[in-house]
Amino acid sequence: MGEILALKAREILDSRGYPTIETEVMLESGIIAKASVPSGKSTGKHESVELRDNDKSRFNGKGVLKAVNNVNEIIAENVIGLNSEDQGSIDRLMIDLDGTDNKEKLGANAILSVSLAIARATADEYGLPLYRYIGGISENLLPVPQFNILNGGEHADSGLNIQEFLIMPAGMHKFTDALRAGSEVYHKLAAILKQDGFSISIGDEGGFAPRLKDTEEALSYIVKAISEAGYVPGTDILIGIDSAANSFFNEKNYYDFEGKKRSAKEMIEFYESIASMFPVISIEDGLAEEDWDGWIELEKTLGSSIQIIGDDIYVTNPNRLKKGIELSASNSILIKLNQIGTLTETIDTVNKAKHAGFNSIVSHRSGETADTFISHLVVGLGTGQLKSGAPCRVERLEKYNELLRIEEELGESARYAGLSIFEKFLKE
Ligand code: PGA
Ligand code: ZN
Repeated sequence: MGEILALKAREILDSRGYPTIETEVMLESGIIAKASVPSGKSTGKHESVELRDNDKSRFNGKGVLKAVNNVNEIIAENVIGLNSEDQGSIDRLMIDLDGTDNKEKLGANAILSVSLAIARATADEYGLPLYRYIGGISENLLPVPQFNILNGGEHADSGLNIQEFLIMPAGMHKFTDALRAGSEVYHKLAAILKQDGFSISIGDEGGFAPRLKDTEEALSYIVKAISEAGYVPGTDILIGIDSAANSFFNEKNYYDFEGKKRSAKEMIEFYESIASMFPVISIEDGLAEEDWDGWIELEKTLGSSIQIIGDDIYVTNPNRLKKGIELSASNSILIKLNQIGTLTETIDTVNKAKHAGFNSIVSHRSGETADTFISHLVVGLGTGQLKSGAPCRVERLEKYNELLRIEEELGESARYAGLSIFEKFLKE
């Protein structure tokens, strides 16, 4: 059963209004499922290739018709007739068809759209929710959301060097309460910023983008918003940052951060100082993607009390993660399907991370669609954390709203990851 009858890709637009790819798969049973692919802006150098047309006469070169054609012609020809249940072999076949290390021939966007549509169609064929198909009967863990409520770096023109300021309502008992807390703090922050004369226009991921002075001022506002919304910072709600440090790493090997040239050591001292002043428990991409020595030092210095997440350094690639595990370069990894390009490889990376005792944080991209695959992935893999932007903008909220639905459907058996996911950092 589950024979693949047809594949059809098309060009659609993402949340920034740029083209991306959506693919529909049809099974013999008549089931049709579709999946679309997001797009990053602060991308890692080692990510799989997002194939764009570079034809300046359309979408300023950002069209994805080549990727669409690769699905409709090359991939379709090879995948039609196969059994959709064979996710692993279909993903492997597409990797082989592409034949490059970084999926530059067919495009990771083309390959991923097929990989995800096939998984969704198969879940439908079995009559299972996608998270259940991915995870089996034992997976019922709802993630702690990481809400990006202040945007900087390449996602906004706030002038802040740090790309994301995240609140994590880990002290709640249910995902539903965590989403409510996120929304309440978000709106409280808007009110406080407005009162102080700042703009409350938003960045790419729905967080505010006020022209604040620096990291310290941004964190002070967040702590104030948490308290004024009636929550206890550091107990009910923890704080994280994503520095996306590539964006301020200079080719002369220093960090051009908040008006000063800093070494990796000085950046680590900076993180130590903000973690002593604020309930910051998670730091993503605190250093640049090739600064392995710096990462090792960062993990050594702060890794026992802070979740040190690698995003651009690992790009969801099992081989890069392996190096990070061997070198003790962090204790956690960000998981983005489109950085690697197939569901199978993504699951492989998460399993490797789990095995090494790393936390995995499933993540959206700054350019998104309404697709909710990652909500199912995070529950199916039971990783316990999801980063999907602010509780604002429908492409971000659809992921969170889908988790409300999943929590409701799981009923009594649903568990919320909560503080347990941070236990190892909190007990230090
Ligand atoms: P991106 O940003 O999707 O623009 O890469 C998200 C992140 O850095 O985590
Ligand atoms: Zn990141």
